[in-house]
Amino acid sequence: MATEIELKRGLQGVYIDKTQSSFIDGTEGKLLYRGYSIHDLAEMATFEETVYLLLYSKLPNQAELDAFDAELRANRAIPAEVLEIIRLTKDAHPMDVLRTAVSATASFDPDTADNSPEATLRKGIRLTAQAPTIVTAHARIVQGKEPVAPNPNLKQAANFLYMLFDKEPTAAEARLMEKDFVLHAEHGINASAFAARVAASTISDLHSAVVSGIGTLKGPAHGGAAEEVMKMALDIGEEDRAEEYTRGILESGGRVMGFGHRVYKVEDPRARHLKAECEALGMERGQPKWFSILSKVAEVMEPYRARGICPNVDFWAGAMYHLLEIPKDIFICIFAMGRIPGWTVQVMEQHSNNILLRPLLLYEGPMDLEYTPLDQRS
Ligand code: CMC
Repeated sequence: MATEIELKRGLQGVYIDKTQSSFIDGTEGKLLYRGYSIHDLAEMATFEETVYLLLYSKLPNQAELDAFDAELRANRAIPAEVLEIIRLTKDAHPMDVLRTAVSATASFDPDTADNSPEATLRKGIRLTAQAPTIVTAHARIVQGKEPVAPNPNLKQAANFLYMLFDKEPTAAEARLMEKDFVLHAEHGINASAFAARVAASTISDLHSAVVSGIGTLKGPAHGGAAEEVMKMALDIGEEDRAEEYTRGILESGGRVMGFGHRVYKVEDPRARHLKAECEALGMERGQPKWFSILSKVAEVMEPYRARGICPNVDFWAGAMYHLLEIPKDIFICIFAMGRIPGWTVQVMEQHSNNILLRPLLLYEGPMDLEYTPLDQRS
């Protein structure tokens, strides 16, 4: 019986449903959001436009964009109770705090239990708007400072940097952050979107699905890699140590963080944008060394390209955040903040044509053992 069953470990290569949200061709390094190239969106679209595109399946005209942007800005505040929870849990990792705070906002959201598409959309917009407020409030509390209230005059990415540093970013800094959010906004059925869809498939609500997504994104095999890459770069310290360090990881059977992807086998199309930004920002800040160190690591990894192991979106992101003086442990929260629209769309698709996501496991343990009462066990 067991030999007839074909295991699909890790669900590799398994299509579980249809989607209209994003298209990924890993053999060509191609990514489209609702038909639009990630390259065009990264270079030309704002985060607000991208989120509108994902949520409403079309690019907005100016009036639609203005109204949507205003809606995002109007929903940035978080309940005082959630702020209190952030204070109480401040010693945890920022992703744990984000997960807990998102979960807590469900208690105050008027639509929590409503799974209609309209309500899920409203909740997705609210969570997208609230996430930077949560992340920056926590970051400031950890530093012994008071949270900075959202600035209604700033767009999403600029407002995130403003709330983090209590200082308006330059236009270039804001655009860099915006590009990063655009690149992270959606990515098909990756592990965290799958987790979100599994939650949604039980006809659970968006907050529960996003909490599942955040918990799943946290691991270094998924979104946690950017932080690990920057730790590696700091550990390497100087370009001339990069080669030996990288070879050391590989020779000991370890993985070089920021390399490899389950789907992309020739190029992660998101990485090239962050590479360019990382290099330019390093030059501008008079700190080209992080780009040089990472370039050396990439050079050592070049032979792995033939095996489909290339730099992924997280490889250059960490150094870019570091140059923006963003604390390392919130790198992954940036990924999560960008991805909430994607999770929302995945949940809406799941709900619109739901089927319980419930695969099987092949049992390999003992069978039909005789139960021994506790007092007779040695
Ligand atoms: N460094 C060295 N070897 C690697 C790496 C790496 N970063 N990634 C994969 N390999 C090797 C792996 O050792 C294995 O070799 P072998 O066949 O000899 O055992 C082979 O490539 C296949 O690895 P796998 O784990 O079966 O492949 P996967 O598709 O399940 O893994 C991955 C994808 C992202 C988990 C993996 O490449 C990895 O652990 N990368 C490092 C962590 C990282 O950068 N994660 C961010 C992913 S991109 C952001 C996102 O969208 O989540």
